[in-house]
Amino acid sequence: MLEKLQELKKEVVQKIQTITQAKALQEYKIEILSKKGAFSYFMEELKKVPNEEKPSLGQKINEVKVQLTSLFEEKENELKQKELKEKLEKERIDVTLPGYQYQTGSKHPMNIVIDEIIQIFLPLGYKVEEGPEVEQDFYNFECLNIPKNHPARDMQDTFYITDNVLLRTHTSPVQARTMEKNKEKTPIKILCPGKVYRRDDDDATHSHQFMQLEALVIDKDITMANLKATLDLVAKKLFGEKRQIRLRASYFPFTEPSVEVDVSCTCNRKGCPVCKDTGWIEILGAGMVHPNVLKMGGYDPSQYKGFAIGFGIDRITMLKYGIDDIRHLYNNDLRVITQFKKER
Ligand code: DAH
Repeated sequence: MLEKLQELKKEVVQKIQTITQAKALQEYKIEILSKKGAFSYFMEELKKVPNEEKPSLGQKINEVKVQLTSLFEEKENELKQKELKEKLEKERIDVTLPGYQYQTGSKHPMNIVIDEIIQIFLPLGYKVEEGPEVEQDFYNFECLNIPKNHPARDMQDTFYITDNVLLRTHTSPVQARTMEKNKEKTPIKILCPGKVYRRDDDDATHSHQFMQLEALVIDKDITMANLKATLDLVAKKLFGEKRQIRLRASYFPFTEPSVEVDVSCTCNRKGCPVCKDTGWIEILGAGMVHPNVLKMGGYDPSQYKGFAIGFGIDRITMLKYGIDDIRHLYNNDLRVITQFKKER
């Protein structure tokens, strides 16, 4: 039996030398060392020898088994190294090749402006509210002190869906909706950005769909001074610390007094296309909330006051970025809108 054992060992040593593939080695290992492999013969034979011979014979069988096992292991490692080397030689990676360029999205310039305005107001305690774009005549006009047949309706050419349902012409109806919802739970401090619609012929400065952002404050001791300070802060944050504002008396049915607000132009040359040499650029409308609007919203005008601001986002975006045609904002031309990459 010992002879047979040596023979098997010799055979395995020789055979292993000829093997060049890991898979073949694995198969051969099973053939020899698995439970039913060639080596198991000796284990079976060991059972048959007299008890006193068992320890020394068993030791010898075991020695050979250990030797064979380590032979297989060595060969396995050798083949693994060889395969790795071949792979490394075959598959060269050029680490100097440039990586793939992934196109990242960018915010639309009007969304950048809306975000900026919201960031100015949030620390002052304002919340963002939303309202429907398909709106009732009641909220779009009536609650804002513009009854049916009021001449002020002509200021806003309206897309009517039915007699009482329309596409909102401004974000001001959100004022009325918020007041109705809050019912004397002051203070109200809201912002409402969104799309609005008017029957306009589209040209360089008009679009049938555009963006506004409404601000509304209602509380007990609100005065024009609060409005002015707020406008001054916004103008400086949006356009730069050196800017000044100017309030011009105006008319809106939902505010009294009403103002149009200009920001100073930074030009110091003749022929400025932005301010047309006036030194001032109109940026928005604002005013103290009209007592009728407060009343309709459920607020007692003898106790509560408020101010409202209506930002024209398109106009502010065009001014801020020097865009000369409103249609650039709506044509979805990536060459235009991807220029405004901002921090995310
Ligand atoms: N809603 C007005 C418009 O679209 C803009 C406006 C003016 C809003 C004055 C206001 C405001 O809140 O106080 O023409």
